[in-house]
Amino acid sequence: MDLYPLIKPVVMRFDPETGHRFAIAALRCGLVPRPPQVRETVLETRVFGVDFPNPVGLAAGFDKDAEVVDAMLGQGFGYVEVGSVTPRPQPGNDKPRLFRLVEDRAVINRMGFNNKGVPAMAERLARRKAKGGVVGVNLGKNKDTERAVDDYVIGARALAPYADYLAVNVSSPNTPGLRALQSRAPLVEILGGVREALVEIKAKGERCPPLLLKIAPDLTDADLADIAAVALGADLGVADGETGVDGLIVTNTTWSREGLKSPHKSQQGGMSGAPLFKSSTEVLRKIYRLTEGRLPLVGVGGISTGRDAYLKIRAGASLVQLYSAMVYDGPGVGARVAAELAECLKADGFVHVAEAVGVDA
Ligand SMILES: Cc1cc2nc3c(=O)[nH]c(=O)nc-3n(C[C@H](O)[C@H](O)[C@H](O)COP(=O)(O)O)c2cc1C
Repeated sequence: MDLYPLIKPVVMRFDPETGHRFAIAALRCGLVPRPPQVRETVLETRVFGVDFPNPVGLAAGFDKDAEVVDAMLGQGFGYVEVGSVTPRPQPGNDKPRLFRLVEDRAVINRMGFNNKGVPAMAERLARRKAKGGVVGVNLGKNKDTERAVDDYVIGARALAPYADYLAVNVSSPNTPGLRALQSRAPLVEILGGVREALVEIKAKGERCPPLLLKIAPDLTDADLADIAAVALGADLGVADGETGVDGLIVTNTTWSREGLKSPHKSQQGGMSGAPLFKSSTEVLRKIYRLTEGRLPLVGVGGISTGRDAYLKIRAGASLVQLYSAMVYDGPGVGARVAAELAECLKADGFVHVAEAVGVDA
């Protein structure tokens, strides 16, 4: 039974950041009951060489410091993406920096990569490694680092041993200049640097996770074409049959405030949740076409039902993620979305989720 409707009125009384800390503390202490596990063969999938029990993941930003990975896997998410993590710990922006837009089922945040840093994350992930489950690590850069590539390389080297995939995040709106790194030349520099680090790791016979890139929804068609070209390997000197990255995460939060009603709509920061669904799915569809289905895509933005997840998959996503829906529906939303997604797939005659990827694109 989902107890969240009972405690939701209490959680919603807290300011959002206190609510988040409360949720993390409750999850850490095992106080959040686990929903029945969703085990459906239709949901099992292998993407960039990793086996996922279901394609519905927890998006980056909820568990920035890898504090509740196992609790969230236990909530029914098929995988958990931790971070964004920066090489050095940093406090993030001044509070308040997180806002619920209840009327819109949306969230605005300007957290600014508050996190405990790469060494602390490596220690946490090392401690839980034997427990298994799919864990992605989302890499960011410190606010005061000038050569961005250095930070992503530090993160990749230190966390590769514990990550089922690494995601280079150049799309958060709350670190000055970060989104500019999505243009062609800086992207080539960053991905080139991280790829080189991963090649060295592989040459030593060590674990070398797939590399993903997370992008923003607020990009022009020309930006998207550049990103797709680099992702497929342009300017990176990749060997025949190789690509620049192993997948793209589409998308991060948006600058847009279109259609919002809530009094918080003029807060600065990135907006996520239901109003992001349409634009992020449109970007997903465009990227799927631009990359000709050659790269696995992770669809994120505004998912709160199995049908939302299904539409992202049909638009080209091999995996999906969510965060904001948890603010309104509680941590059990992962299991519910996965179960509803299984129903949508079966109703349309799909035997495996992979068969539905991109059918609308
Ligand atoms: C409070 C908050 C913090 C976030 N922090 C990060 C982050 O550190 N790194 C990142 O790549 N995305 C971050 N995100 C973006 C989410 O991972 C996701 O891309 C976005 O919220 C859209 O999904 P949603 O509509 O399901 O929330 C954050 C989102 C929220 C709401």
